[in-house]
Amino acid sequence: MDRNLALEFVRITEAAALASSKWMGRGDEKAADQAAVDAMRRAFNSIRINGTVVIGEGERDEAPMLYIGEKVGIASADAPEVDIALDPLEGTTICAQGGVGAISVIAVAERGKFLHAPDTYMDKIACGPGAKNVIDIDAPPAVNIENVAKALGKAVSEVTVVILNRPRHEKLIAEVRKTGARIHLIGDGDVSAAVATGIRDSGIDLLLGVGGAPEGVISAAALKCLGGDFQGRLKFRTEDERTRATKMGVKDLDRAFKLEDLAPGHVMFCATGITAGPLLDGVRFWPGHRCSTQSIVMRSATGTVRRIEAEHSLTLKPDGMLLKQGH
Ligand code: FBP
Repeated sequence: MDRNLALEFVRITEAAALASSKWMGRGDEKAADQAAVDAMRRAFNSIRINGTVVIGEGERDEAPMLYIGEKVGIASADAPEVDIALDPLEGTTICAQGGVGAISVIAVAERGKFLHAPDTYMDKIACGPGAKNVIDIDAPPAVNIENVAKALGKAVSEVTVVILNRPRHEKLIAEVRKTGARIHLIGDGDVSAAVATGIRDSGIDLLLGVGGAPEGVISAAALKCLGGDFQGRLKFRTEDERTRATKMGVKDLDRAFKLEDLAPGHVMFCATGITAGPLLDGVRFWPGHRCSTQSIVMRSATGTVRRIEAEHSLTLKPDGMLLKQGH
């Protein structure tokens, strides 16, 4: 995969972040999501790839744009064949409520590499490079926390674990509290939380718990670039979900997927902050119809992690990136 591609992808997440940021705190999840999807879809038209969405907005019949299987990019015989896992607005509720850590995100792999994760849940564990090789999704939380603490040279009471604040995590939260580790409970957005485990100054050491499976694959791609680790096991709620997973090509439905099963080969990851969070700053608006974005771009082939600060003129951006007057 061409290294310049990674920088092209940032324009796409920037466009989606800018569009949805106009809906921050306005209580309209649908409009925020639609703005991000529209902007991301349009921005794909400016990039030379033979891209296929493998993780996207849903099945073709339920998502008119960026659906699984949709071809994106300016296709040509010499353009790279890539698979794309995307979430134009990861943290719809966060954005609609003006909360912490909504991002726009794209992960890219060589054709056929990403696990085609169905829209079900996934039990996840994620950590940064310092604790790589010591986490195990099958071990109890106390063991994982103890091992992460040792690997990072910290006391258990200095380890910070991020967990989605959900009733399903009551037992997990109680178990983690028992160890004495610190907990950062989040309302939504476990991609940004998982990626933050791989960022030195994020203050987050470990992610535990159940979130979306597609988000798991995207997180795995990011942690691969960062040299961290991610493991996940699909959690099905119904027989239908199991059938769908099989149809999507998942062979062993109950196995613990390692990072290399989820995101093998060379991958790229890029994300732009929509609302400020532990990973990225949100979109900020300045006088004179200008605004700034912060993005992170990384490639597993080189391990380079770039933070890209951009200032945009809202008067000069193509129409599509602005909301219509009066909105
Ligand atoms: P959306 O952006 O699709 O709303 O997802 C937000 C999110 O919090 C993810 O980050 C997470 O993986 C998933 O939802 C958790 O699902 P649930 O809200 O059903 O617990």
